[in-house]
Amino acid sequence: MATLPIAKIGNPVLRTVAGPVDPAVIPTRACQQFIDDMLETMYENDGIGLAAPQVSRSEQLVVMGCDGQEAFPETVLINPRIVFCGPAQVEMWEGCLSVDGLRGKVTRPSSIRVQALDRAGVPLDFEASGLFAVCIQHELDHLCGKLFLDRMTDLSTLTQLKEFDTYWKREPVTVV
Ligand code: NI
Repeated sequence: MATLPIAKIGNPVLRTVAGPVDPAVIPTRACQQFIDDMLETMYENDGIGLAAPQVSRSEQLVVMGCDGQEAFPETVLINPRIVFCGPAQVEMWEGCLSVDGLRGKVTRPSSIRVQALDRAGVPLDFEASGLFAVCIQHELDHLCGKLFLDRMTDLSTLTQLKEFDTYWKREPVTVV
């Protein structure tokens, strides 16, 4: 396994709409190795999610996993789609491995239904809520060239890390 370099804001790959993965490619050694490398890169950087464009591959593939307070299982989504959003909204602090040193509050639907392929190429159809739902939405935004900053409706919450630790630390953060 290898840790991959992370594309940072300003890199055009983060603003590019990612193309679908050919399902025939999923079982190949190269694709499985890439998924393992993405997971290692995510864990190494203390993230709970990582999208392929963040490692400069413009493909519809994301990995996620969180064993913290609001734990959710290690998840690989290929060619994912959000097919339903519930009416309730949730506001959470978000950060991004492609945006160093900043946090901001984003409001998103608190429950969603997702369809995708898993890393074995098997179709998934599931509902997610809370932190998992927020993480999925953040990662899927990366696949259409969006960053959490684009989703902020109130830039007054934009915070540098030191100030976050000083003033806002008690609220849960999503770094994805
Ligand atoms: Ni991100």
